[in-house]
Amino acid sequence: MLAVTNWLTRTALGLFIGVCAANAAVLVDFQVAQPPPLPKDAKQCTEVLIVHTFGNSFGTPAIANFTPPTDCGPVGSWAGISLNLTVTSNGTQFDRLGIFTFQNTEIWRTSTPEPTFDGIIWTYLKDVTRFIPLFSKPGEFIFELDNLLETGLNGQYASTVTATFFASSPSHPAAKNANLILPISASSNPTPDDNAPSVPPNINTNVTFPDNTVEVYAEIFASGNGNEEFWYFNTANEFLDDLPAGTTFGDGPFREVQLLVDGMLAGAVFPYAVIFTGGIIPTAWRPITSYGALDLPTYFIDLTPFVPILTDGKSHNISLGVISAETDHAINDNWFVSGLVQIVTDTSSKPTTGEITKYEVQPFPVTSTTAVVGAQLGDVNVTVSATRSVHIESRIVSGSGKVNNVVFTQDLSYKNVQTYANQAAIQNVAQTATGTVTSTHNGVTSLTDKYSFPLNINLTLLNPSGSEFSAFFDHSYDRTILPAPFIFGSTIAERQLAGGFFTVASTGNTGNGTSNNTFTYVDTAGNTFDREVSAALDNITSDHQGGSLAGTQPKFPFFPKAQAILGGSVRLPGRRIQT
Ligand SMILES: *[C@@H]1O[C@H](CO)[C@@H](O)[C@H](O)[C@H]1NC(C)=O
Ligand SMILES: *[C@@H]1O[C@H](CO)[C@@H](O)[C@H](O)[C@H]1NC(C)=O
Ligand SMILES: *[C@@H]1O[C@H](CO)[C@@H](O)[C@H](O)[C@H]1NC(C)=O
Ligand SMILES: *[C@@H]1O[C@H](CO)[C@@H](O)[C@H](O)[C@H]1NC(C)=O
Ligand SMILES: *[C@@H]1O[C@H](CO)[C@@H](O)[C@H](O)[C@H]1NC(C)=O
Ligand SMILES: *[C@@H]1O[C@H](CO)[C@@H](O)[C@H](O)[C@H]1NC(C)=O
Ligand SMILES: *[C@@H]1O[C@H](CO)[C@@H](O)[C@H](O)[C@H]1NC(C)=O
Ligand SMILES: *[C@@H]1O[C@H](CO)[C@@H](O)[C@H](O)[C@H]1NC(C)=O
Ligand SMILES: *[C@@H]1O[C@H](CO)[C@@H](O)[C@H](O)[C@H]1NC(C)=O
Repeated sequence: MLAVTNWLTRTALGLFIGVCAANAAVLVDFQVAQPPPLPKDAKQCTEVLIVHTFGNSFGTPAIANFTPPTDCGPVGSWAGISLNLTVTSNGTQFDRLGIFTFQNTEIWRTSTPEPTFDGIIWTYLKDVTRFIPLFSKPGEFIFELDNLLETGLNGQYASTVTATFFASSPSHPAAKNANLILPISASSNPTPDDNAPSVPPNINTNVTFPDNTVEVYAEIFASGNGNEEFWYFNTANEFLDDLPAGTTFGDGPFREVQLLVDGMLAGAVFPYAVIFTGGIIPTAWRPITSYGALDLPTYFIDLTPFVPILTDGKSHNISLGVISAETDHAINDNWFVSGLVQIVTDTSSKPTTGEITKYEVQPFPVTSTTAVVGAQLGDVNVTVSATRSVHIESRIVSGSGKVNNVVFTQDLSYKNVQTYANQAAIQNVAQTATGTVTSTHNGVTSLTDKYSFPLNINLTLLNPSGSEFSAFFDHSYDRTILPAPFIFGSTIAERQLAGGFFTVASTGNTGNGTSNNTFTYVDTAGNTFDREVSAALDNITSDHQGGSLAGTQPKFPFFPKAQAILGGSVRLPGRRIQT
């Protein structure tokens, strides 16, 4: 089963089986998140884009031919756009990665909660207002969800995708947006898989920018899958031999996502660790998924400093890659990466000119790996740290004569402490990644991405075979972003304390879990949302929602009965459990 390479590396993330219990109900899964900050009282036009059941769907995405609506004001004049993905499933199935690609550009990466025999349903509402330039013309809308049906795997994902356009009005002005969005991903003749290719090796895309480009903002999608699903648990090669075989993978726990322009590093990301719903303790992630599982975070870099070299009418080599702190910078298979650029053009059609006046960037971050090795195999603590700084300045002169002095800086830091004890029966990780990313145009802030992503996981094997284990997660997402001066900025503070027990047995798996979540959101338009929600044993035990956006998403019902769990298999770091 695990030897089906494409299936494993692309999407197989974890698995467990639910069985019918007395009084069991369809489980309503959800990720804690703000409702899209869109005007409820605006005229709305909803289009059904996709109604599709993903059965055996490897390489066969659902494709819709999109046409912009004309009855919510002139095309492109909308106050906002949201997508609604609603899915039901039942039976046994892995969690799967889902990728939405529109006009050859990835716009949303998601993953599926694992079903139960009695069925699950989830809805996620995604704000896609910043992609108005793509929605303003007809094009192919692709939802790729590579699912597999075979012996022991019968869960299908019955999916509906709708797009809602919010008409602008004097009280709800048209959303500001870029003049053009181009993908950093598609080849000249893309297949769905080209839109989020896997690395290593780096992907290289030829992009031709308009001559009168004056600002460029990049957005990057990146997630570890297959042997990189638990990348933060991978151990530095130097100390892998101090662990029992199969405990975890090598190449260490540090990952830097790099964006290069003609081979010059333009920006870097120390990413957030998305834990998929089959990850380690599947029962900890239902009905509340881990944060980010239904809407994987993306990252923002100001590419405006490169405008002087991009506006020569020729194609340029935009690369995306992921590196480790190992001496060869290698990683395992694999990461899926893609991206896009939001482009602002000048009112003049004359080419933009200028020069890069400062470029203080090293090709690789400064890293260190140290360890304390105990007397016994599997008794070792390994610390990996990294720092990275980027400082680029440019003077840009538009065709209409405006001068823009751009300063782009990044200061990123990272630390990961892995603690192994009792022959690696204890496998703990304490990681934090922080970043301060700022760009100013003539002294005015135009892009910000400040983040802190602390992650603590204590995994303990409770018996010699490793078939019984517990894990507790303390995971936060604290972030202030302004993706571009014309896109909404927001601040999110999110913390999830989750965990539970799991037992793998030939007679059927059993497990339990609890999840306590606190979430606050505030944006540059003054919208607010907060939610404190807890679950235990598949049941919501408390739920409070407040703020100006509250009430726009349904409160979730209390379930009458927790569902029993039997059978199936589960994924741990490394190759500890293979069923
Ligand atoms: C989302 O779509 C589902 C299925 O199409 C629908 O039942 C639900 O009401 C929609 N939710 C919102 C908030 O529009
Ligand atoms: C289970 O899924 C199958 C296949 O998608 C569907 O035909 C059936 O109606 C579902 N049953 C329930 C109870 O949801
Ligand atoms: C990009 O352009 C270079 C040089 O013209 C060419 O060798 C390469 O194949 C192109 N790559 C893609 C992905 O089109
Ligand atoms: C693009 O840049 C990468 C370095 O990031 C380099 O390895 C590759 O050869 C370049 N490709 C082309 C076609 O110039
Ligand atoms: C690793 O760290 C833990 C917790 O700080 C400590 O108890 C243990 O002794 C350390 N292991 C070694 C080999 O020093
Ligand atoms: C992990 O264990 C350490 C040491 O016992 C403890 O301080 C920490 O709170 C635990 N973290 C989680 C997420 O359970
Ligand atoms: C969540 O909160 C409940 C109630 O306070 C507590 O029993 C449970 O241990 C908490 N779960 C975690 C993972 O901290
Ligand atoms: C979860 O299962 C473990 C092991 O069976 C048990 O000790 C614990 O009390 C259970 N937790 C809850 C919240 O039921
Ligand atoms: C689910 O939670 C509600 C609210 O706390 C409680 O009344 C109910 O007894 C719980 N159900 C189960 C099966 O634990």
